[in-house]
Amino acid sequence: MFNGAISSSRQSSLMSEYASLMGDAVLRHRARVAEHSARLEAEFASRIKSEFIANMSHELRTPLNSIIGFSKLIAEQAARPLAPGESEEYAGLIQDAAGHLLAIINDILDISKLQSGKFQLNTRELGVDEVLRPCVAGLKLFADNADVALISEIGESLPEVSADSVKLRQVFTNLVTNAIKFTPPGGTVRVTARTAGDGVVVVAIADTGVGMTEEEIRVAVTPFGQVDGGKNRWREGTGLGLPIAEALVRLHGGILSIESAKGAGTTVSVALPTAAQQVASGATAESNHAAAAVALAVVQDLAHPR
Ligand SMILES: Nc1ncnc2c1ncn2[C@@H]1O[C@H](COP(=O)(O)OP(=O)(O)OP(=O)(O)O)[C@@H](O)[C@H]1O
Ligand SMILES: [Mg+2]
Repeated sequence: MFNGAISSSRQSSLMSEYASLMGDAVLRHRARVAEHSARLEAEFASRIKSEFIANMSHELRTPLNSIIGFSKLIAEQAARPLAPGESEEYAGLIQDAAGHLLAIINDILDISKLQSGKFQLNTRELGVDEVLRPCVAGLKLFADNADVALISEIGESLPEVSADSVKLRQVFTNLVTNAIKFTPPGGTVRVTARTAGDGVVVVAIADTGVGMTEEEIRVAVTPFGQVDGGKNRWREGTGLGLPIAEALVRLHGGILSIESAKGAGTTVSVALPTAAQQVASGATAESNHAAAAVALAVVQDLAHPR
């Protein structure tokens, strides 16, 4: 009995020693994991930053060099006369380059406003098709030039959403442009819009293009992130379109999701709560996102039955 008491107290002290050693080991392990993931995050951010600087300097220098070069030719025409129509042509090229620069600067301002939570939407009730149809029509020539078939299947009587038409058009323009840009000649881009779940409209942009791995999707949604960024890049852009689109959709109470497989194409889906759903649920950000998430899951299940 006495012996038993000694051994049980020794046992409990061994147990507490063991527990404290285990506790220390767990804390050390957690610290190592946190340090490792902080290092990975820092490496990721630094890689994106260097690719951004390389890509951005190219994106800014190209139009600036056009502006400087062509305006010089116009300015020096007393010394070196231009052929008829040449000065109009150069003025047009200068205008294009300046427009391109303005678009880049607007994107940079948009992302910084979105990140600081200062972005204001100018919403009204509208049909998604009202925005989607002209957007797809406006990109038809771009698709033709890229030899990509652009097919649109937009439902007839889609319920209205409460949205900022200019910003929604910006979202779809970027997504459809991306789909065309990253699809090799002979491929197809399909734009569909339908009602899904309870009170949600889902727009899907599916391409048969180069696709992305999970890691590449993570890069793609990071501001300035571009897959194959840097000097080997084969398409122009600044890597802001997708993160801006994602943030704008979120601001509309919706969800943007990307499904992709390397070499097998990409589908980007945008789920937006209808105006009626927003009113019914009190239009809190949480209720909108929850409804959009459920609808998106339904649509993705229909697309890929398990
Ligand atoms: N449909 C797609 N298929 C394959 N890759 C894509 C697709 N959409 C986006 N990506 C990848 O994600 C990157 C980021 O896209 P994002 O729209 O943000 O930038 P961008 O198109 O390069 O430039 P911009 O700022 O002009 O939109 C792209 O550079 C590309 O590498
Ligand atoms: Mg883009």
